Amino acid sequence: MYHLVVFASGNGSTLQSIIDSINHHELEAQISLVVSNNPNAYALKRAEANHIETYIIQNKNFTQRDLELSDVLSKYSIDLIVLAGYLKMIGPNLLEKYTIINTHPSLLPKYGGKGMHGMHVHEAVINAQEKYSGATIHFVNQEYDKGNIISQTKVEVLPSDTAETLSQKVQTAEKIQLIEVLNRFVHHEIS
Ligand code: GAR
Repeated sequence: MYHLVVFASGNGSTLQSIIDSINHHELEAQISLVVSNNPNAYALKRAEANHIETYIIQNKNFTQRDLELSDVLSKYSIDLIVLAGYLKMIGPNLLEKYTIINTHPSLLPKYGGKGMHGMHVHEAVINAQEKYSGATIHFVNQEYDKGNIISQTKVEVLPSDTAETLSQKVQTAEKIQLIEVLNRFVHHEIS
């Protein structure tokens, strides 16, 4: 069995789409653990509702967080770590030990970097009157949103779009793309 660990800081709709795909046999994997830095993340409720173990990492110090997570994760089987709306930087211990991917709601390298997450991204895209936006799945390295790109999906930005409607379009495309990418990992087409 292919083992995932999912990191999430907020709502967790991306986590939910992974859970749903597994439950519907569209993804032959299992989630060993859900990690969040936010004790109030709805993602944690989604994990608990599906009997998935959770871990809350509250250490504010980057190095200590990295060491604590490294210790916790060593107790689990892990083939891949998925950052699904996780807003903290990943430290060198985790980067060295694990393959880690992130999903980001823009066509990177545009609208990436520190502070560019969730609705902030969609607002910036609308304000810049971009014709296209989309989602990017990429390997994680020591810089925000800078790792090698695995896959991108484009969506059209219509003049009538708001940040909210754009967010819905991007998230729908993003979830389909993520499950496709995860299937490629499971089938060892990417490593
Ligand atoms: C997703 O759209 C994801 O791409 C984005 O946060 C959303 C999480 O939604 N991630 C980032 O912006 C990371 N820079 P969710 O909590 O409902 O899964």
